[in-house]
Amino acid sequence: MARFTAITSRGLGKVLEQELKDKKFKVLSTKGDSVIFEANWKEMYRAHLQVKIATRIILPILDFPAYDAEELYNNIMKHDFTKYIKPSQTLSVVSTLSDSLPFNNSHFISQRVKDAVVDQFMDKYNKRPSVDSKDPSLKLMVRLKNNACSVALDLTGKSLSYRGYREDGALAAMREHLASGLIAHTGWQGEEVLIDPMCGSGTLLIEAACQLRNRVKDRDFVFKHFVNFDHEKYEELLDNPPIKRRETPLLYGYDQDPRALDAARSNAKRAGVTDLIEFKQQSLNDLLVSVDKTPEGVVVMNPPYGKRIGHIEELAGTYKLIGDFIKKRPGNFKSWVLSGEPSLTQYLKLRSSMKIPVFNGDIDCRWICYQKKADS
Ligand SMILES: C[S@@+](CC[C@H](N)C(=O)[O-])C[C@H]1O[C@@H](n2cnc3c(N)ncnc32)[C@H](O)[C@@H]1O
Repeated sequence: MARFTAITSRGLGKVLEQELKDKKFKVLSTKGDSVIFEANWKEMYRAHLQVKIATRIILPILDFPAYDAEELYNNIMKHDFTKYIKPSQTLSVVSTLSDSLPFNNSHFISQRVKDAVVDQFMDKYNKRPSVDSKDPSLKLMVRLKNNACSVALDLTGKSLSYRGYREDGALAAMREHLASGLIAHTGWQGEEVLIDPMCGSGTLLIEAACQLRNRVKDRDFVFKHFVNFDHEKYEELLDNPPIKRRETPLLYGYDQDPRALDAARSNAKRAGVTDLIEFKQQSLNDLLVSVDKTPEGVVVMNPPYGKRIGHIEELAGTYKLIGDFIKKRPGNFKSWVLSGEPSLTQYLKLRSSMKIPVFNGDIDCRWICYQKKADS
C-alpha cells in the first residue's frame, strides 16, 4: 500500500474527498485542495480512470530540510529512482521555490535534483535517461518552501481535466474537472432533471452525464511508462461496461448561440452521452415563456460575467432574466449560478442559501445556490 495525493483546484477539496469515498477509495485526510488516500498501485490506476474531480495524482516520496545544494543532492540520493524507469527512457524535474535562502533560482534546484537522479543511473548502468520536459517517463515535482523540501512523482502527466471529448478553443468553456466538482456540490445524483439554460459547449451537462454513464477511457498516463507497470491489471480496469442507454433524456441544455450548441452536441457525441442530454437553441427569454411543468430538479448556470465575454454594464438585463427564470421555476427546484462578478449577482434579486468559493481558471468565483421553497 502507498499513500497517494489527489489534487484538484480551489473549492473542490471536499467534493473530491467525497467522490473518492463514494468510489471506495480509503481516504486518510484532506487539506485544502489535496486529498491523501491509501491504495495499492492497481487502485491508483483505477483512480486515474474513474475520479472526475481531481486534476492530478501524485506520489509523495521524500521530505527533508535543504539549506544548501549539497544537502539537496545528498537527500535525493537516498531514494532509489532507478526502480521506476530504464536508462533509455526520459525524465523531467519541475520545481517551485519560496523563502529558502541561499536558494534563489528554481531552475538551479531542478538541475541539482536531475543531477542526483542521473548519477544514480550512471552508477548502476553507466547510461542515463535523457531530459524531456514535454512527455517524460518519470516526472518529479519538487517544492522548496522555507527550506523544507518535498519531492513527489507526478503519476498523471497531462491534467486529468482533459477528457478528450472537446475541441480546444470553445468560447469561455469551463474546465471539465471544475464542471464535475460543481455538479457534485449541487448534490444531484441522477434522479431528477438537470437543466442548464446557458449551456455553452455543454460542459456541466456532459460531466453530469459522464458520471451517470460511468465510462472509462484509456489515456497516456505517466505511470504507464514505469517498469513495474502492470499492463494486465490496467486492462482489466478498462473492461468496465458503461451503464446503458436511457429511454428519455434527463438533462436539458439551452443556449441562444447556435455555434455553442453545435459544439455542445459534438462534445456530447464524443463523450458518448448524446442519449442522456437534449440540446435546444433557445434564449432565456423564450425559455421563460415556455417554462416547463417539471415539479422538481436542479438548474445549473454559468452565465457570462463580463470578464471574458460580454461587458458588465450590458449584462444587468441578462442577470435580471436569470433571476426571473429562477423565481418562476415550479415546485422545489434548486438553482445554482456560477458568479465571477459580485456586482452582477445583485441583479438576480434573490437571496442565496449557499456560496462556495471556487476558481474558474484564474477568476475568483462563487458557486451560489438559490433554493426556492415549494409554493413560495
Ligand atoms: C460562460 S458561457 C457558458 C460556458 C459553458 N459552461 C461551457 O463550459 O461551455 C455562457 C453562455 O451563455 C449564453 N447566453 C448568454 N445570454 C444568453 C441568453 N439570454 N439566453 C441564452 N443563452 C445565453 C452564451 O451564448 C454562452 O454560451
